[in-house]
Amino acid sequence: MELFDLIVIGGGPGGYLAAERAAQGGLKVCLFEKRALGGVCLNEGCIPTKTLLNSAKLYRHATESKNFGVTAENVKFDHAQVIKRKAKVVKILVSGVGMTMESNKVTVVKAPAEIQGKEEGKFKVVAEGKAYHADRLIIATGSEAVVPPIPGVKEGVESGFITTNREILDMTELPKTLAVIGGGVIGLEMACYFASVGVKVTVIEMMKKIAGPTDNDICKVLMAEYAKRGMEFKLEAKVLEVKPGIVVYEDKDGKHELATDKVLLSVGRRASTRGIGLESIGVELNRGAIVTDDKLMTNVPNVYAVGDCNGKIMLAHTAYREAEVAVNNILGKKDVIRYECIPSVIYTDPEVASVGDTKEACLAKGMNVKEVNVPMMYAGRYVAEVDAGKGFCKVVYDLDKKRVVGVHMVGSYASEMILSAAMMVDTELPADRLKKFVFPHPTVCEVIREAIFKL
Ligand code: NAI
Repeated sequence: MELFDLIVIGGGPGGYLAAERAAQGGLKVCLFEKRALGGVCLNEGCIPTKTLLNSAKLYRHATESKNFGVTAENVKFDHAQVIKRKAKVVKILVSGVGMTMESNKVTVVKAPAEIQGKEEGKFKVVAEGKAYHADRLIIATGSEAVVPPIPGVKEGVESGFITTNREILDMTELPKTLAVIGGGVIGLEMACYFASVGVKVTVIEMMKKIAGPTDNDICKVLMAEYAKRGMEFKLEAKVLEVKPGIVVYEDKDGKHELATDKVLLSVGRRASTRGIGLESIGVELNRGAIVTDDKLMTNVPNVYAVGDCNGKIMLAHTAYREAEVAVNNILGKKDVIRYECIPSVIYTDPEVASVGDTKEACLAKGMNVKEVNVPMMYAGRYVAEVDAGKGFCKVVYDLDKKRVVGVHMVGSYASEMILSAAMMVDTELPADRLKKFVFPHPTVCEVIREAIFKL
């Protein structure tokens, strides 16, 4: 019997970090991964999309910087090269994860794993006919793209006309037109890339607004910026059918047929919890996601679930923190997760970043809050670098508890600035204390300082 202290199933950010931290804590760990280490984040999510978006940004800088005194002729965009570079970036980072596992003496099994109940009091996991046993399990099996039961969608995916976040990142030729079904985070980031490099993009979103729970004013700025790049939004639009080369949708003006070269399907993701034998040990699910508490424990003692598979917040950095909380609890250290302090970023151009609740969400909860909204133009560096931007930073302050409960930003550097805001939410410091922080000058981050002084 090959016996481990801990078996981790899934080698994405949740799984590999859990394995690393547990090994550093002195546990004998085995990690199973059926595809590539790094999971969706490294292979077909966060990292590859950021390489694409950076190329699009460079292209836009090269072609739209006349005001800044820079002009360039014959600027070309080579999408195939962008995809080639993406593959290289992914390879470097995936091999980095492999090396980290090796240096921490984690046993990595590259095969699909299935839990098969318990044997002699130990959890039994089988991969390629071989059995592995452990005292504890961490499930970190991630999520998969939702493929809705709309007529023609399954056939479209099979023919390659419809792509998900996975296939679109390997497409080596730019389509002339792209229909994006679902104006959430994946849809918007990919729409931003393709529209920036000359593809005619139409986003079809069934809700009244794009970007889910994102602040309304931020959504308006994003849509206005995108419209300048020729992007169209069909809101409150329901996709009825997909035929070869055509998306049929219905909105308040009736039924429409949109001819398009390609479709990106980005209507959400669901927890991957099927086919891994969770039923053999009785792990409780809720709508397909593993039910966990604030220590990431499931209903089964010594079984934890971290990352997208618990369906809480499907972000790589949530998975990181959840992995650490789970491992700390396994190692006997007290730790709980606080989801309200987790920042989120949409890497569009302009960038969107937020942490905590919007004013509207706070008011709906009956909280006594004040919101201040400061244009990014208050920050000298923003004016110097961005020229004319519509960026802003909103800070939501709980007047009763005297602490920041939400920060919502749109504009350059928002992705890098949001950490300081998340620390304000996490540490629960009052405005009087936050005013004593020294922000380097000139930085765009100073906009947060300006907002705090207006509270
Ligand atoms: P999402 O939940 O963000 O957005 C899906 C959108 O599709 C929603 O606006 C929804 O109303 C719409 N929708 C659903 N069914 C539809 C239909 N039949 N027709 C038209 N619209 C429809 O999901 P998305 O964009 O697929 O992303 C999945 C997950 O990946 C999210 O949890 C997201 O947070 C995460 N992610 C995070 C990133 C980041 O942090 N920068 C980047 C990419 C993904």
